[in-house]
Amino acid sequence: MIWETILTTVDVQGRTHITPLGIREERGLTVLSPFRPSGTLDNVLATRIAVVNFTDDVRVFAGALTGRRDWPVCPAVKIGCARLAASLAHRELELVEVEEDEVRPRLFCRTVHEEVHGSFPGFNRARSAVVEGAILVSRLHMLPMEKIDAELAYLQIAIDKTAGPAEREAWGWLIERIDAHRAGVQP
Ligand SMILES: Cc1cc2nc3c(=O)[nH]c(=O)nc-3n(C[C@H](O)[C@H](O)[C@H](O)COP(=O)(O)O)c2cc1C
Repeated sequence: MIWETILTTVDVQGRTHITPLGIREERGLTVLSPFRPSGTLDNVLATRIAVVNFTDDVRVFAGALTGRRDWPVCPAVKIGCARLAASLAHRELELVEVEEDEVRPRLFCRTVHEEVHGSFPGFNRARSAVVEGAILVSRLHMLPMEKIDAELAYLQIAIDKTAGPAEREAWGWLIERIDAHRAGVQP
C-alpha cells in the first residue's frame, strides 16, 4: 500500500525542502522511493533524517509541483528537521538502510517520534482529484496530451461538485501549469 504524503527534509546548510512523496511500510520501517535526480534523496543521504507529514491541505501537493514550496513549518521534536505546521500527524524518521538503484533507490527509515495534531475530517473527492492532478503534472513529460485531457475532464467533475476554496485554488495552479505545458512553455 502506498500513502501519499508530504516529506520534509533538510539540506546540509539547514534549508528545509518540501516535496510530495508516496511512502510504503515494510518490516516495520517506512520506505521512501525517490526517482533520481532528487533533492529529497540528496538530503536524506546527507543528513539521514526526514519527516513524513500527513496533511489534508492539498495546496501543499499542488503547490510543490507548481513552484510554491514555501509553506509554514515548525521544528520536529526529536530530529533537526522541520515539519509542516498544517499536518494532521507527523512521523520523524532516521535512515537505517539504503537499497541502491540507478533509477529509484529505496530508503528504509525507522520512526523515532510520532505525533497527532488533528482529526481526520473525512474523505473529499475534490481533495483526491487535486492529488491525482498533481501526479499528472509530475508526469507531464511522459504522458500524451489526450490522456491528460481525458483525466482532467473526469477529475473536474469532483472539483465542480465538492471543492472548497483551498481545493479550487490548488486545482487552478495545476490547470495553469498544464495549459503552459500545452502551449510549450517550460516551467
Ligand atoms: C502525490 C504525489 C506522490 C509522489 N510520489 C513520488 C515518489 O514516491 N517518488 C518520486 O520520486 N516522486 C514522487 N512524486 C513527484 C515528486 O514530488 C516531484 O517529482 C519532486 O520534484 C521530486 O523531486 P525532489 O525530491 O527534488 O523534490 C510524487 C508527486 C505527487 C503529487
